[in-house]
Amino acid sequence: MVEDVRTAADIVQIISDYVALKKKGRYYTGLCPFHHEDTPSFTVTPDKQIFYCFGCNVGGNVFKFIMLKENLTFPEAVRFLAERIGIALPSPEEKTPSRAQQARDKAYVVNKLATDYWHKLLLKGSAGAEARDYLNERSLDETVIEKFQLGFSAPQWDGLLNYLGKQGVSHSEAEKMGLALAKEKGNGYYDRFRNRVMFPIWNHHGKVVGFGGRVMDGSVPKYLNSPETELFSKGNTLYGLNFAAKSIREQEQAIVVEGYLDVIRAHQYGFTNVVASLGTAMTPEHGKLLMRYTRDVVIAFDADAAGIRAAVRGLEILQEVGCRVKVLAIPDGKDPDEFIAKYGAEAFKQLLQTHSKSLIIFKMNQAMASRDTSTVKGKLAVFEEVLPNLARVRNQVEQEEYLSVIGRELNLSWETIKGELNKYRAETGKKPFAGDKFDKNRHNTYISASPGEHRNLGLTETALERAELTLVRLMVENPGLVSQVKQRLGLDFFRDIQLNRLVQLIDQVYLEKGSCKPDQLYNYIDDSVLTAVLGRLLTREMPTDHWEQQFNDCLAMIEKAGVTDRKTILLKEIAEAEKAGDFQRVIELTTEYKNLL
Ligand code: CTP
Ligand code: MN
Repeated sequence: MVEDVRTAADIVQIISDYVALKKKGRYYTGLCPFHHEDTPSFTVTPDKQIFYCFGCNVGGNVFKFIMLKENLTFPEAVRFLAERIGIALPSPEEKTPSRAQQARDKAYVVNKLATDYWHKLLLKGSAGAEARDYLNERSLDETVIEKFQLGFSAPQWDGLLNYLGKQGVSHSEAEKMGLALAKEKGNGYYDRFRNRVMFPIWNHHGKVVGFGGRVMDGSVPKYLNSPETELFSKGNTLYGLNFAAKSIREQEQAIVVEGYLDVIRAHQYGFTNVVASLGTAMTPEHGKLLMRYTRDVVIAFDADAAGIRAAVRGLEILQEVGCRVKVLAIPDGKDPDEFIAKYGAEAFKQLLQTHSKSLIIFKMNQAMASRDTSTVKGKLAVFEEVLPNLARVRNQVEQEEYLSVIGRELNLSWETIKGELNKYRAETGKKPFAGDKFDKNRHNTYISASPGEHRNLGLTETALERAELTLVRLMVENPGLVSQVKQRLGLDFFRDIQLNRLVQLIDQVYLEKGSCKPDQLYNYIDDSVLTAVLGRLLTREMPTDHWEQQFNDCLAMIEKAGVTDRKTILLKEIAEAEKAGDFQRVIELTTEYKNLL
């Protein structure tokens, strides 16, 4: 069914409804609808039924376009297109939704009812006066109170329950949805949220999944949140993402803060790419959510000890899933809300530009603050703290940039720090730059995800990189080739982690579906990095003549490079083992080395 729609919907025709397209040879161009630009870098390729923007790297098939443009989920986009081109799909009524789905649908409706109920209480009547004063005092303006649908839950024990009851929602249903609590001794229920300013929490599709409530005096707990329910899980939710998504994509950056008011204040002052983790630790799911829109993330938090610990942990988790993360420690013991309210938008903008630091530099500064850096010993101790992170940076240019900043800050010579890094690598067996294919933390890709990244770093493609890209390009076009490559090299062979992911995906789709066209691939990709990598790859010239020859040449070259890497490592390890007097190991390593020759 999906396939029917995909083949029947002509991508040029569909996108023409949104973008003025001009034909240019084999493809069409226009101004990108996903970021601001004056000269067209958005392309649509009818042969492949895909779109791709050279400016912001967004790309995909016709479904992806509709999902982004109309803010729909995949199934919704399929239905939307089917209707537009007049293909009859089985209507949702014919297929009765499962009980679980029905319960979820009802919970969404009830959450909306509660949102409206509390919002009205806030805006009208005497009951909400105190809450209105509170928000006023915190100088939140009407626009954000509207946008974030803030509300007020009255002090009485059953205000919401009574209201929901009239709408046909039973008390026990309300309890399951996290809106009510059961009384002790099992006689009845009461409202979970009372006498609080209410914050509805949306998922990224814009549906309310839960609530937070804040007291207006000093009583505790200051915040009360919905429990984990069928719809709501803190670890999967980023507060504000429904409002921020578009702007995150346009600005190619997300800012993550801790709380409700940090987000709301930021949006009030024009920082519309801000979301919150709601006071919990960042999770890989948060990272994956963000990766749909950008890989560049700034974590902004108060610079107290707890805040710092949380940010560093969050940062490492986000890095794991491929984000490029910076931290912004807000000075003067303020959180983002307080900082912006006190110093204004311009000051916060300045702070973002001048105070956001990469993990390595941030860690180094932390270590410097707690050690005596007047001695060489102290300096090396600081350096040691960042060594593990530094050793993981795969991009040589980037790594050398770090080395020079660190050298400058610690006043250590280039030779000294480079020497320490090499020593560390030898000790931990971490291989330099190339061949580092088991390092989970690799997140640098040479098929770069943001425009101009190559140029900025002054990198040009090496012959080996070209061979890898050509090989993957060929596999994208001829998925049947994957099995040959798999036999020779394995699927985790490429130096670029994103290329490995892509090849594994092709393999999987091809095995499951028996075919794998580039535009089909996009149905299985939902993060921005892989989208960009595939987009870039598809814009490479496809080797036409004698491609079999090229295929074999590339394979041979990559295989050979792998052997060379291994040999270099072995020689180093042999030298180490000799030094350590571990002759058993020397023999093992030498045997492996000889076999490679
Ligand atoms: N939080 C929570 N539950 C708590 C405490 C905090 O969910 N018991 C979350 C909320 O999302 C809150 C964020 O963590 O917005 C930050 O909490 P906190 O640092 O206590 O907020 P403050 O800045 O002190 O409070 P506010 O700005 O609302 O006055
Ligand atoms: Mn605060």
